[in-house]
Amino acid sequence: MQLNPTIREIRESATLAINQRVSALRQGGRTIWHFGFGQSPFPVHPKMQDALRQNAFRKEYLPTLGLPALREVICSFHREHFQYEFAPDHVIIGPGSKELIFQALYLLEGPLILPAPCWVSYAPQGEICGKPVVPVVAEKTDGYKVRAEQLRSAGRELPAGQKIMILNSPNNPTGAVYSADELQALAQVCRELNIIVISDEIYSHVCFNGTPAKGIGLFYPEGTIVTGGLSKAFSAGGYRLGFLAAPAEMTGFIKAIATLASETFSCVSSPVQYSAIVAFSDDSDVMEYVNQCTSLHHVAGDYLYERFTEMSLGCVRPEGGFYLFPDFAPFRRSLEGLGIAGSPDLCRYLLEHVDVAMLPGTDFCHPAEELTCRVTSVDYDGGAVFEASLTQPELGCDFIETHCPNLKDGCDALKNFLESF
Ligand SMILES: Cc1ncc(COP(=O)(O)O)c(C=O)c1O
Repeated sequence: MQLNPTIREIRESATLAINQRVSALRQGGRTIWHFGFGQSPFPVHPKMQDALRQNAFRKEYLPTLGLPALREVICSFHREHFQYEFAPDHVIIGPGSKELIFQALYLLEGPLILPAPCWVSYAPQGEICGKPVVPVVAEKTDGYKVRAEQLRSAGRELPAGQKIMILNSPNNPTGAVYSADELQALAQVCRELNIIVISDEIYSHVCFNGTPAKGIGLFYPEGTIVTGGLSKAFSAGGYRLGFLAAPAEMTGFIKAIATLASETFSCVSSPVQYSAIVAFSDDSDVMEYVNQCTSLHHVAGDYLYERFTEMSLGCVRPEGGFYLFPDFAPFRRSLEGLGIAGSPDLCRYLLEHVDVAMLPGTDFCHPAEELTCRVTSVDYDGGAVFEASLTQPELGCDFIETHCPNLKDGCDALKNFLESF
């Protein structure tokens, strides 16, 4: 059988692959501390579940752009929380923001600039679309955030004409959140160099400073496409619903993506769209729930940060999301003694010999010689932890050690391993 040569070069998504490997090892009786898979552990809010149940009878196809009432609440929600001015007919609902990012990359001409470390799927998606992929690697000393100057020099090396960049804040894999000043400086460069930004804001409500994370669209509305969805703050990854919103200047783009969607996925499941209306309608119960879940992500992220720092792993304190990006460079010599030369070797070793699952930095466009890994902070029973958190006056390390034992035990296993050198 002949396969499309582009796809032959691309592996299955690394995050899904590690999850399957961990499941297989666990089924075989092994205890594995799972720092590998980034799924929110909390239950979907009961009001969203009710809406899903109550609308189960709706079997009709919906308009390709999505349910008008849903697109309207998405616009109001983003006006209220982010001061974005999107029109409902410039919003499209898709089966996850991942698919919509892919469709946008398929439609937009130009090379793909990726501030790195960056999410696992961006580079493969760009490659499937036949684009040159240009990672711009941020420094740990800059909190893993790309500086405007770095972007300017990378952009100037590319041929004149349109370019695309995917910016993700709060960031998977580093937990970094760009400040308003940093976004403004990047916006200036994007304007100068004709860079269209896909602002991946799937974690915008999982931000630890008490307000939703600001997006670059605030400073560069005419050139920014925003994506988001139900998967992270609303804990409903398996509902498979995301949105993409484009500014008034991009009418042609919205028409093109509506055409592509109509020839591919047609529309998203109708009961799920009704459930999403509840998510985006700023219901006070739902938002309180989202904020409590974010507080738990915050305290779990802080716990892992403290433990990793204590072990002398280089790490930046996460400001949002549910990820950390520790650096094993201080142990390079000793790791080399075990035949470990880079992050893929390191992750293989940790899974096989330390029972700890993490993903190598290379999967996130981080250089192969680095010893960085992506860690997730969500290996706990979200329902039980949420309930327990309601009775606590304060959430801190003790709470995590009592209620999220896998995070503690995984850290202990890692600490024992590093102390063996
Ligand atoms: C940075 C980032 N963007 C996008 C997605 C995809 O989200 P969705 O479930 O909306 O496709 C994820 C999911 O892991 C992610 O981490």
